[in-house]
Amino acid sequence: MNYEKNARIINDDIFDLVNKCFSEEKSSRNIESRVNFFDTYNDYFVLTDDGSYSINSKEINHKIETLHTSTGAISESFEKFIKPMKFDYSKNIAILDICAGLGYNSSAAIADFIKNSNAELKIDMVEISKATLACGLLVPSPIKEHDITKKAIEDELIKQDYAALNIEKCEIPSNIDIKIFIEDARKTVQNLDDNTYDAIFLDPFSQNMAPELFSLDFFKEFRRIIKDDGIIATYTSSAPVRAAFIECDFYIGQGPIFGRKQGGTLASPNPLMLDTSIPKNDEIRIALSDVGIPFKDPGLNNSSEYILEKRSEERHKARHNTRISSAVKTPIFLNCEMDDEKLKRRVERNLVKMNIPSTTSPEAKYIVECENNYEKKQNDKNNSRNRILDMQKKLKKIKVKIKDK
Ligand SMILES: C[S@@+](CC[C@H](N)C(=O)[O-])C[C@H]1O[C@@H](n2cnc3c(N)ncnc32)[C@H](O)[C@@H]1O
Repeated sequence: MNYEKNARIINDDIFDLVNKCFSEEKSSRNIESRVNFFDTYNDYFVLTDDGSYSINSKEINHKIETLHTSTGAISESFEKFIKPMKFDYSKNIAILDICAGLGYNSSAAIADFIKNSNAELKIDMVEISKATLACGLLVPSPIKEHDITKKAIEDELIKQDYAALNIEKCEIPSNIDIKIFIEDARKTVQNLDDNTYDAIFLDPFSQNMAPELFSLDFFKEFRRIIKDDGIIATYTSSAPVRAAFIECDFYIGQGPIFGRKQGGTLASPNPLMLDTSIPKNDEIRIALSDVGIPFKDPGLNNSSEYILEKRSEERHKARHNTRISSAVKTPIFLNCEMDDEKLKRRVERNLVKMNIPSTTSPEAKYIVECENNYEKKQNDKNNSRNRILDMQKKLKKIKVKIKDK
């Protein structure tokens, strides 16, 4: 499979224009094509609410996403990726920036680090598309630290014979080491050392566009390369993503809300690094219903389509068998009185198939018992991960009873 060709990257129009710009730079050795690009092709960039620019993705299944939220591209980096980190700035810090794009997340990390630390910062940026990194050189820098990232990008693009000229004048501070991997992040992670990173920024397109970057098998590598107190931040609140973190031995917590209705997701091997539980109903659905079945990518080399299809098949098999049906959000009604008779009939039809006679039966109460202790502020004992595992264990017990009959 030629994954690089099919990868979800920036849209074809700007992709072609950027490639043309840098190929002209190489042949003419003239700075004009790069320095005039933004003014000439301004319309291809998307202005976000904080004044920073984004770009549109390729069209996949009739859908286009922008690389960043319209609420503010650079603000999103600070709010979702930097604020939830609990960096100990008296020590050296190592960050893995997956899906580095225009380099905003790394630039925000550099800005925060320079403000707070005299130690050393190592950033490994991973991005599959040279043209996208090159776009990072073409957009106006939203913060001055973006010039540091631009310098690192330019150096790498020259090394890889994509760009030709040293136009970026900013010097990379001697205590900051930026390495850029231009390849599929699934390949990169397999070659990284154990126990290395204080933070992983995970910023792909959505799970339907790029499920391969949210899979169980990808997160297993994260578990190996992250430090025990490290934190992974991602913008999505998706159930299969959170479920995959749990299956890979991470604790999970709610990330900051910015530009969306729901908070993103934080994951860490250490529960004390994560303050806020995910919402109660999300815990219940992840633990008990087929939405909590993660994306799987054995071998870390499957196509997005294959991964989506396999998960659909697995969900279908699990429904009414090992998992409660996710239809009408059935599991969230466990231990609830229901007034809506029609909905109740649908819910209880699904529950009966799992040996749970009704929403208020002892079985129903038993399975979600731990949710009586739900607290938004989580700690090392009472937290989303432990509750999810507890509910899964209990659902299994109830289901085993049915098999024994
Ligand atoms: C939402 S954007 C990231 C925005 C970025 N974090 C920033 O600060 O500008 C997603 C990025 O993932 C990149 N990408 C897609 N598939 C990838 C893969 N398999 N490995 C690495 N990067 C990938 C795309 O080219 C795109 O730039």
